[in-house]
This record gives sequence, structure tokens and C-alpha cells, in this order.
Amino acid sequence: LTVSTGSDESVIFTSPMEESIIAEPTSENLAKAAGFLQRGDLVGVPTETVYGLAANATDDDAVTKIYAAKDRPPTNPLIIHVASVKHALRWCEIDSQAWVRKQFDIAAKFWPGPLTVIVPRSKNISSVATAGGDSVGIRVPNHPIALALLERCDFPLAAPSANPSNYISPTTAKHVAFGLGEKVRMIIDGGPCQCGIESTIIKLDPRGPQLMRAGGVSLDVLENAFGHAIGNSVVSADLDSDPTKPMPSPGQFQKHYSPTKPLLIAGVDALPLDVSEVGRLVFAPIDQDKADAFHRVWTLSQDGNLDEVARNLFAFLREADQSDAQTIVIDSCENTGIGQAIMDRITRAASPP
Ligand code: TXA
Ligand code: MG
Repeated sequence: LTVSTGSDESVIFTSPMEESIIAEPTSENLAKAAGFLQRGDLVGVPTETVYGLAANATDDDAVTKIYAAKDRPPTNPLIIHVASVKHALRWCEIDSQAWVRKQFDIAAKFWPGPLTVIVPRSKNISSVATAGGDSVGIRVPNHPIALALLERCDFPLAAPSANPSNYISPTTAKHVAFGLGEKVRMIIDGGPCQCGIESTIIKLDPRGPQLMRAGGVSLDVLENAFGHAIGNSVVSADLDSDPTKPMPSPGQFQKHYSPTKPLLIAGVDALPLDVSEVGRLVFAPIDQDKADAFHRVWTLSQDGNLDEVARNLFAFLREADQSDAQTIVIDSCENTGIGQAIMDRITRAASPP
């Protein structure tokens, strides 16, 4: 159902139940969104990776709303989004140590882009956003609409992925409406996300940057830029971790990005003999007679291109989860390049609760 209200033609209610507000990215709507954010409201914002649930990162009350809307543990800090490297420098303290500045300058060459850098924080960022810690995760998103909105705000935006905690990350405005439609003032529609998987996170460290999360920028590309191997601090998805206990590395939950249906990984898990109830996600087309045996098949790429697989992963996982299939079975790939981020997300999503 699409309803245009008399007062505002651009506002679309996707359903009366969700009461979500998806808005076209006109300059008028961006100005409105900036106003909502200034006032302390939440806005769904497109980025090249996934949609973000944004709030004014200098406003404790606004940031607190993010945690409430997502049902996110307050111990899990948020990424801060800024319009440029120059803006980033306002919100972190990078000149206290020479190694911080040196590593920051290399990392900043990836901006705008899907790389988040964890650096010592400025006191002017809400400590709610940093979960009380001394560091801040910061990035410049590579999306014209996110950048246009940031340019209109004289504060940075704290924005986690715009999904209820632990559910599949959103890559369209509708996904945001589905999960958080009643909790946001507006969702800006920037189309489907080009990268489709979250940013890579590195933590600057005297030993050299440490990988905290695989993502849109692959490890080999980073190692090439830094000129040496990058330490891996990603907590393995196989390790036991209790989300109710304080986190050694915030946010690295074993279970994450998860569908509500059981998810099995082809080549790793034992698969059901009868696949008629299986929703099958494949990375490249399979023969029709094979496909016919499944409840339904989603083809993530027409030629096995892993960038395309990453782009479609969350959207198709969501479709499969919301279909009549009883179980979802997904392909796996090599743990290199963008494949590392793909396998990280799949392994966490498939991990038992
Ligand atoms: O691509 C992305 O990064 C997306 C878009 C919206 O920018 N955002 C995103 O946010 O994925 P979120 O909250 O879903 O994941 C952020 C991760 C969490 O695991 C969090 O623990 C970690 O970043 N993080 C943020 N700030 C941190 C900090 N200061 N220290 C350690 N980890 C941090
Ligand atoms: Mg997330």
C-alpha cells in the first residue's frame, strides 16, 4: 500500500502496520532529515555497505535511542560517520603518538570507502556511542546521499547497521522499514547498497593495524597499502562467546547476521537428503534439473563473481528466511579477498544460537 499524505507528497508509508517512512533522496528531504537528526531523532541512511541507523553522535540522548531501537547491548560501540578526512580529524585524537598519525594517514586513503578505523577518541563524541571506551570507530562512507546528508549536518553521525540486533543487515530502504520502521523518523532511499557487506574494521596499534572485522576492503589490499602483514584480531565464529558478558573485542559475537530459519553451509554441514523444503542459495547458476529438487533456488551471481555474491548475500538470505522454505542451504567460497568477509558473515549467520 502506498499512501501520499496531503502535506508531504514524498512521504511513502510502505504499510500501515510498519508505519515506516521511506523518502526519496531529494534535497528537500535531505534538509528535513538533517533537521530530524539535529533534533535528536533517528534516520535510516544508505551507505555503500549496508543501511545505517543514524543519530547525532554528539548527543547522548539521540545515541541512546539507537541502542533502544536495535535492542543492542550498551557495551557495543557504534561507528561514527563523517563527510571527509578533515571532518574525521575533529572527532579523534591522532597526534598524541606518531604511529597513530602514520597509520591513520594510510587508512584514510581508503576514504570515502568501506574501511572503519578505530582510533583514540575526541571527548566531543558521545561516550554512549563509544560504549564508554577511549576509542572511536570512524569512517567516510562512499555513497553520494550519505555524503550529501553529512555535509548538511554540523555533527557526525553514529550509525550501526539498521537492523534489529543480530538479524540480517539491511541493503535496501525496505529492509530498514521491515525491521525498524516504527522506530525511525525517516528512511532515505538510496537504492540497493553497492558493496552489500559491512566495512572492514581495523584497530590502529603500535604493532601495526589489527583486523577486527573482515569487510568491503579485503585484507590483501590493506596489507599492500600498509606494506606489511596485518594482525588478525577477529574472534573466530567457532569460539564460544556469551553476548551477556563484557566483550573482549566489542561486537564480535559468534552469532550474528542471522536468519530465523536454520542455515546450513554446503561443503561444511551435513545436508538433508530430501531438499524439497530447502531454500538453496548458490553463488553461480546450477542446472535446472538440480534446481527443481529444491523448494526454491536463489542465484547470487550469474558467473560466480564474489563481489556480486557479497552485494546480494543479505538481500537473498532475507528472502529465503521469509519464504516458505524450512531450512536454508548456502554455498561456501575460499576465505580470500572479499571471500573472507562473505565466509565470516555466513559462518556467523549459520552458528547455532
Ligand atoms: O559498513 C558498516 O560498517 C556499517 C555502515 C552503516 O557504516 N555499520 C556497521 O555498524 O556495520 P555495526 O554497529 O553493525 O558494526 C560496527 C562494529 C561492531 O562490531 C562494533 O563493536 C565495532 O564495529 N566497533 C565500533 N566502534 C568500536 C570501537 N571503538 N572499538 C571496537 N569496536 C568498535
Ligand atoms: Mg551490524
